Amino acid sequence: MSAAVPELPTLLVFEQSRPGRRASTLPAHDLPVPEVPSELARTRAPRLPELAEPELVRHFTGLADRTFGVDTGFYPLGSCTMKHNPRMNERVVSLPGFRDLHPLQEEDGAQGALELMWRLQEILAEVAGLDAVTLQPAAGSQGELTGLMLMRAYFSDRGEGDLRDTVFVADTAHGTNPASVTMAGYKLEKVGTDARGNLDLEVLRERVNERTAGLMLTNPSTLGLFDESIEEVARIFHGAGALLYYDGANLNAVCGISRPGDMGFDIVHYNLHKTFSQPHGGGGPGGGPVAVREILEPFLPVPAVVRDGDRFRFDYDRPKSIGKVRGFAGPFGVFVRSYAYIRSYGPRLREMSEAAVLNANYVLARLRDTYDLPFDRLCMHEFVLSARNLKRDHGVTALDVAKRLMDYRFHPPTIYFPLIVPEALMIEPTETEPKERLDAFADAMLAIAREAAEERDLVKDAPHRRPVKRVDEVQAAKRAIVRYRFEEHPQLSAGAPTGAAVEAQKGA
Ligand SMILES: Cc1ncc(COP(=O)(O)O)c(C=O)c1O
Repeated sequence: MSAAVPELPTLLVFEQSRPGRRASTLPAHDLPVPEVPSELARTRAPRLPELAEPELVRHFTGLADRTFGVDTGFYPLGSCTMKHNPRMNERVVSLPGFRDLHPLQEEDGAQGALELMWRLQEILAEVAGLDAVTLQPAAGSQGELTGLMLMRAYFSDRGEGDLRDTVFVADTAHGTNPASVTMAGYKLEKVGTDARGNLDLEVLRERVNERTAGLMLTNPSTLGLFDESIEEVARIFHGAGALLYYDGANLNAVCGISRPGDMGFDIVHYNLHKTFSQPHGGGGPGGGPVAVREILEPFLPVPAVVRDGDRFRFDYDRPKSIGKVRGFAGPFGVFVRSYAYIRSYGPRLREMSEAAVLNANYVLARLRDTYDLPFDRLCMHEFVLSARNLKRDHGVTALDVAKRLMDYRFHPPTIYFPLIVPEALMIEPTETEPKERLDAFADAMLAIAREAAEERDLVKDAPHRRPVKRVDEVQAAKRAIVRYRFEEHPQLSAGAPTGAAVEAQKGA
C-alpha cells in the first residue's frame, strides 16, 4: 500500500515571503536622493512580499489556474453573453496606430480612428433601426443613465420636464434599470409579467398617462422571451406622449433579424462587451453606446464624431447637448474590437443571433423534461429554468445545482434571477459554442438531477473538486477582507530586509 502524497499547502504571497529575496536586480543608480520632509518620510520599509522570480511566477500562475473564464470552459452566465473573444480582434486593437494613439491627438493625425468610430456609429444605428449614435458611455448601466438623461432633456425642451416624472420598469428587469431610473431623478413604477411572459398590458392601459416619461424594457426579456405585444406596448406609451427605452443587453438575440427602432423604441443602449465580444468577465473594459430617434439627436453627448466629405472630426457645436458623459471620446479599444467582430460577420450578422437562438433552444429541449420550465415557449438567446422541482422532491436548490456544475468544470448559470422565477437557473450558451460542448453541459445538468434523487449529499456538499469550497457569501459581501492582517501574523511583520538574510535565489 503506497502512502498518500501530502498536498502542498497553499500559501498567501506574504506567507511565502523571505526577507531579501528578489525577483529582479536593478542596477545601482547614481541620482541624488531627494530630500523628503521628515513628516512625510517612511519610518520603516513597506511590507511588500519578497520572492525570487520562480516562486513569484508559480504563485501567480497557480492563481490563474484556479480562475475560470471563457478560455477555460463553457460559461453560460445568463444575460452576460460570455462568448469567445476572437484573437484576431486583439491583434487588430494592438496595431500601433490604434494602440499608441493619444486621446488628445489632433484630428489630422487620428483620421483612421475617427473613421472607425464613425463607421461603428453607422453600423449600430442600422442594427437598432434608429438615426444617431453616441459611443461615449462606458457600460450598459452608464448607457441607461445617459438614455434617461436624454429623455429628461427632451421633455424639458418641450416644456414637459416637470410634468413627466415617472418611468415604468418590468418586474423582470436587470437591477441596473430601476437604479438608473432613480439616479436620473424619475419615479419608478413596476409593471408585472403575464402568464405567457409578456408585459401586463392591462396594467399599462390603466396606469400610463400624461405623467409618464417612458418605459425601460429589454426585449427579449431576461426570461429569454420576446414580448409578443411589443407593438401594442409602444402604442400605449407613444399614445400618452411618452418614450420607449430599449435595454440592449439582450440584443444578441435579434441582430439583423428585428430592430428595436422598428418595434417602437426611441432610445437604445448596446452592451458592446456582450453582443460584439470583449474580454469582460473579470470587470474588463465595457462599452454602452446609445442610439436615438432623430427627435432626440440634438441632446446627445458631445463631441459627436461626424463626417465632412472625406474627413472625420469631433463636433462640439451642439447647444442642446447633455454634455460629456465620459472622458475623451469613450473606450476606444472596445470600439476597435467590436468593429472587428461586426465586420467579420459583414452582411451575415444575423447568423450570429440565429446561432445563439438555435443553441439556446437546443439546450432547452434537452433539459425541459427534467427541470421546471416556468414559461413554456420557444426561447430566444437564453432561457430560464427552475430547480423548484428538485427543491420540492429532494431539498436540492438552484445554488446546489450551480455548485455541483463546478465539479463538472462548467461555469454556473446565473441563479435566482429574474426575481419572479423561484429557484431560477438562467442559461445563455451564446453562438460560439459547438454542439459537443452544449451536449456535455446538458449531460451534466441531467446527471446532477439524477444525483439529487440518488446521492443528495453529493450535490448538497458540492463543489468537491475545486480549491475553494462553499463560502459564506453573505459574510464575504458584508465583511470583505481585502488586506493582509500582519498584526495576526507577528512572525511575518519583519521590517526592512537585511543583507545577511539574502538567500541564493536572486532572480534565478
Ligand atoms: C439585462 C441587463 N441590462 C443591463 C445590464 C447592465 O450592463 P453593464 O453590466 O454593462 O453595466 C446588464 C448586465 O448584466 C443586463 O444583463
